[in-house]
Amino acid sequence: MTDANLEFHAVATTSEVSEDEPKAVSIGRMDIGIYLLDGEYYALDDICTHAYALMTDGYIEDGAIECPLHGACFDIKSGKALTAPATIDLRPYEVKIEGDQILVGVPKAED
Ligand code: FES
Repeated sequence: MTDANLEFHAVATTSEVSEDEPKAVSIGRMDIGIYLLDGEYYALDDICTHAYALMTDGYIEDGAIECPLHGACFDIKSGKALTAPATIDLRPYEVKIEGDQILVGVPKAED
């Protein structure tokens, strides 16, 4: 999806997210987790694709986030489901940094 189809929302400041402490934010009804990994910020759907758990309550290790409920792991950079019981990837979102603001791009609302 190109930038033209996205609407960017400022959701947090860079100081609010660390490698150990992701941040849960919402844009409208979407729950999104913001992560810092290797100096880059990433945004993923915050609801586990297996059942219902907030991924930002999970555990971060080796570039992956582990679901706090049943332990499925997802790649932070891509959202890819790495281990069972999850088989569906977490949706990734585009991230832009402007000054100290973290902006997340979501599809524009239909008119
Ligand atoms: S809810 Fe995340 S692995 Fe089951």
